Amino acid sequence: MKYAIVNDHIINREEAKVDIEDRGYQFGDGVYEVIRVYNGKMFTVKEHMERFVRSAESIGIKIPYASENITKMLEDLIEKDNLKLGIVYMQITRGAAPRNHAFPADDVVPVITAYTKEMPIPEANLQSGVKTILTEDIRWLRCDIKSLNLLGNILAKQKAAEQGCYEAIQHRGQDVTEGSSSNVYIVKNGTVITHESNNLILKGITKDVILKACAENEIPVEERTFSLEELAQADEVFLSSTTSEVTPIVVIDEKKVGTGSPGPITKKLQALFKQEIENQCGII
Ligand code: PDD
Repeated sequence: MKYAIVNDHIINREEAKVDIEDRGYQFGDGVYEVIRVYNGKMFTVKEHMERFVRSAESIGIKIPYASENITKMLEDLIEKDNLKLGIVYMQITRGAAPRNHAFPADDVVPVITAYTKEMPIPEANLQSGVKTILTEDIRWLRCDIKSLNLLGNILAKQKAAEQGCYEAIQHRGQDVTEGSSSNVYIVKNGTVITHESNNLILKGITKDVILKACAENEIPVEERTFSLEELAQADEVFLSSTTSEVTPIVVIDEKKVGTGSPGPITKKLQALFKQEIENQCGII
């Protein structure tokens, strides 16, 4: 991470500074994206840019540059940083203005920042699966917006980390929603079941790739709310995200899922997901 994007410039990382009155810093007033880079190429970049625009619009931030121009700049950043395998982090805030909850005047310009980070493929987790805990979902009711406000998410993740677990599976009462930074799926009698993409979860880009792969490979899918009881009775459980890809969940609150090792549908989806990465970014 030698370089960073600030608005429409790529500058040295050390020169990238945030104004103490930036509304992202003071209010979490902004949105973000995390995009995977394989072989120096961004995976599903179009879908990430579309969600970035959608998230920004839904909180009334107008992105001052065309998506194609931002994409081009991210490509330049990846090249300058010589990033082969990792992620791009990108965010936009409403800009810097004297502190006042209401939006500032129209002449305040949103601030875009982005940087790259090396990140290996989490091979051990993909192979063996991860342990998780359950936690009540205390987040707001617009989890479909990829907002910088992540307090509910980080408290959930911290609780998992303190118990030596990789992820916290959140639930509202009896209904399972999603992980603190991932979507969650169960498999029952060969059917993949995952929460419908509404205001209670983030519509994952990885989720879209997985559901498309299911459709193309005649793996039945139900996008609907499922209960803690169904989670406990599932044959297989897995999570998905940009950084975690398709990760099997083998333990929930110290209880084994199914046989306690990654199941056949999860493995099949891992293979299909890898195929899609290679279609877009080349052999990895
Ligand atoms: N997290 N749900 C939540 C709450 C998330 O934060 C994420 C992604 C996902 C999966 O979305 P996608 O498949 O588009 O990555 C679901 C990112 C990676 C993060 O915050 O680091």
